Amino acid sequence: MTSYDILLTLSCYTLAHVLLKAVGVTWGVASRRRCSRAAITSTRFYTTYTSLAKPLVSVLGQDGSSINLQGDNMENNDACAQNMDLQLSNDNCDPDNLERTDPYDAYDWDSVSIIHRKMELFPKWQLPAKVSLSLSVLFFIYTFLREVLHPFLVHNRNEFYRIPILVINKVLPDVAITLLTLAYLPGILATILQLHRGTKYRRFPQWLDTWMLRRKQFGLLGFFFAGMHAIYSLSYPMRRSYRYRLLNWAYEQVQQQKESSWIEHDVWRMEIYVCLGIIALAILAVLAVASIPAVGNSLSWREYNFIQSKLGHIALFFCTVHTLVFAWNKWVDIKQLIWYTPPTFMLVVLLPLVVLLCKAVLMLPCFSKRIQKIRCGWESSKRMGIKCVLTRL
Ligand code: HEM
Repeated sequence: MTSYDILLTLSCYTLAHVLLKAVGVTWGVASRRRCSRAAITSTRFYTTYTSLAKPLVSVLGQDGSSINLQGDNMENNDACAQNMDLQLSNDNCDPDNLERTDPYDAYDWDSVSIIHRKMELFPKWQLPAKVSLSLSVLFFIYTFLREVLHPFLVHNRNEFYRIPILVINKVLPDVAITLLTLAYLPGILATILQLHRGTKYRRFPQWLDTWMLRRKQFGLLGFFFAGMHAIYSLSYPMRRSYRYRLLNWAYEQVQQQKESSWIEHDVWRMEIYVCLGIIALAILAVLAVASIPAVGNSLSWREYNFIQSKLGHIALFFCTVHTLVFAWNKWVDIKQLIWYTPPTFMLVVLLPLVVLLCKAVLMLPCFSKRIQKIRCGWESSKRMGIKCVLTRL
């Protein structure tokens, strides 16, 4: 073996070692990120490992951009610094390393990983996700029966090709508008309840409390479904089935010796409802961005309230008008009733209309002034009377 060979082997070995080490570091940071906040803040755990983590902090050069602190509210305090140290202690995530340092702490790591495994996955998203899934299945079955099975059984027409795009693109907007309504409905219910009780100091029922806390998730899922609907809708002209349809219509028109197929009111209908859909989606995008904690924290309470409440209701209004204009004169078209069932756009628009109507009524000065007073701590005389009786008792 020449000295050149030895040098080459050594450099290959060093390169492989560095690469393996880098993979190990990446894995360590990633697995660290997955650690639960509760587990990370365990002080006993911290005191043992900070010493091991410190050298690594210096190795990584404290590159904050690649570190997820997982602590929304822990700003620059000790706990945050502790977490940072802990999250970077990648090599020390390895249980073998722990055993070598202190058997007691190795046991601790085991319990931490058990807690970690038992943690719920996306706890805040579970209810909204279940509701979205149930709505999707329901709307899919309903649309499938009306738009695919009915023509197949009654007219012997094969319309199964509609499932991937056309049927799904009924399910998506229907779920989207329902989820958006579900994001604004609890606020309306809570306001009505406060007006009825004449105080803000009584707790809402548990179900309303939970629902209020899931509004953000309902809204974001609604935005997701609406975004998908927009992409599906804009893909319509790309479809081969659409092109064949267009050719067939053109042929029929020639046969009927019609010069123009322009229908003025249909043109206006489509221009208006697509425009409204785009505006609604744009406003929903603003709401989604404002719901990111970093963005939300940079806004004042008034700005945040304006975006999430006022702009949110405006978005719901545009979505509802988009659906109403899409329906246009189909509301009075008896042919829309298939197997005695109304079309989906008629069903889904009812709840948003109720929410928007309630919101409009609650904005009337007689109600809005009263609710403002209640939210500032004022209590109705009836409620004060009850309180006096209770204190005397
Ligand atoms: C870029 C934005 C949008 C475009 C281009 C668009 C386009 C369309 C199109 C083409 C349809 C007819 C679908 C069909 O009959 O196959 C439709 C229907 C509908 N859209 Fe949109 N839309 C947009 C945004 C929205 C948003 C933000 C919502 C609300 C969440 C929404 C809710 C609806 C509803 C409920 C229907 C009726 C679906 C049914 O027939 O059951 N759209 N939209």
